[in-house]
Amino acid sequence: MSKEKKQEESVKMEEIVSFAKRRGFVFPSSEIYGGFGAVYDFGPYGAELAKNIRDFWWKKMVQENDNIVGLDSSIFMSPKVWEASGHVGGFSDPLSECKQCHARVRVDHLLEDAGVFADEKMTEEEINALLEANADKLKCPKCGSSDFSQAKNFNLLVQSNLGNFTGDWDKEPTYLRGETCQGIYVNFKNVLDSTRVKVPFGIAQIGKAFRNEITARQFIFRKREFEQMEMQMFVHPDDSVEVYEQWRERRWQYYLEMGIKEENLKWHEHENLVFYAKAAWDIEYKFPFGFKELEGIHARGDYDLTQHAKHSGKKLEYRNPQTGEVFVPHIVETSVGLDRTFLAVLTDAYVEEDLGECKSRTVLKLPANLAPVKIAVFPLMKNKPELVVKAKEIFNELKMQYMCEFDDNGNVGKRYRRQDEIGTPYCITVDFDTLETEEVTVRDRDTMEQEKVHIDKLQKYLAEKL
Ligand code: GAP
Repeated sequence: MSKEKKQEESVKMEEIVSFAKRRGFVFPSSEIYGGFGAVYDFGPYGAELAKNIRDFWWKKMVQENDNIVGLDSSIFMSPKVWEASGHVGGFSDPLSECKQCHARVRVDHLLEDAGVFADEKMTEEEINALLEANADKLKCPKCGSSDFSQAKNFNLLVQSNLGNFTGDWDKEPTYLRGETCQGIYVNFKNVLDSTRVKVPFGIAQIGKAFRNEITARQFIFRKREFEQMEMQMFVHPDDSVEVYEQWRERRWQYYLEMGIKEENLKWHEHENLVFYAKAAWDIEYKFPFGFKELEGIHARGDYDLTQHAKHSGKKLEYRNPQTGEVFVPHIVETSVGLDRTFLAVLTDAYVEEDLGECKSRTVLKLPANLAPVKIAVFPLMKNKPELVVKAKEIFNELKMQYMCEFDDNGNVGKRYRRQDEIGTPYCITVDFDTLETEEVTVRDRDTMEQEKVHIDKLQKYLAEKL
């Protein structure tokens, strides 16, 4: 990649980061204390956008599928879960230290940036061989030196002292979950016994996950506390390939339905699979720093249920009520980060529009269902009580159904720009004509066209548009 291109991209990323903060989408965590690495907070508009993304995923994955049920398992689980899953032993990334400035780096990423294929599933020996062979190409992102220590696999699980009163964390460590799906596997039998699901069926959940990511970079793309939206489909072993292909197709369509531009999506097949996986494809999104993983779709075989059965001593099988066949279901997983979806949605929707005559506007062309605010209501002038009263009346009625904002600050042009920036699809202005004709002006975010609509017809008009 040319330097020029890289610079151009990093400017775009900086634009998104500063925009997200300025307009209340994403704030660095604990900012008044100088921030906290790879942890971020959603601001008022960010919280709305995140909620809308969650709702969309839940609707598509749970509500619209008769054979998928939801779950909300705890962040904390028995530490035995993480031993059985293989996370205690092998959930790690290769870490190295710059000998000059002592910055810690993720070696597979460093190699990748230098155009050398590497990934976190390689052994320490493999990664160190690459580190040595490409030493002159690798530069410390902090000081530029090429002098690195040997890489060591660093476990990403985050430990806590929950329920441990010994004062010694290492003695009986408990973990904040590293992925939400383990809560699904350990509840497989509970769901089976308490509902009427039959194989093939899925369990879906949304929740926080925690990883001690080595490098804090790329904004909310790689966080240490993040949210996953995961669905595990339990299928007959003979059907796993077919179901896997169906879900690959369905997850691609999901992003198109969400309004993501298809040219910004691409498939990436994992060549270096974890030992239990039968297949793994990622849907990548073209983030400002290039195409990177947005979602993983994995054929996990019977690994998870078999491991938990072995470690817990409980049978995790399914008995076909018609044929009596007993088997361990295979798992097809779809796993996406809420935060990465948020960044993809923001990047996809962010437009600097040239309006001619040296004028421009920033507009978030979000689909209406994802927009944090659906409708903004303005009185033309804030010092005219009759306009304010009428506008408040409309606002109070609409807010019962839609996320609305009332704005009487500055002139109408400035209010439009503010709403464009946060992606509000419609703005309604109450002016002096309204008092006589009962008509308001509705302005469309994308076309900027304005239309007169009678107040009595406003609900129907907006219901059709939104
Ligand atoms: N259960 C499978 C699993 O966790 P993964 O590829 O490690 O697989 C799945 O993670 C998804 O979770 C990724 O595609 C990404 O969207 C999101 N994700 C993973 N690590 C993340 C991080 N540090 N920050 C934000 N999102 C992350």
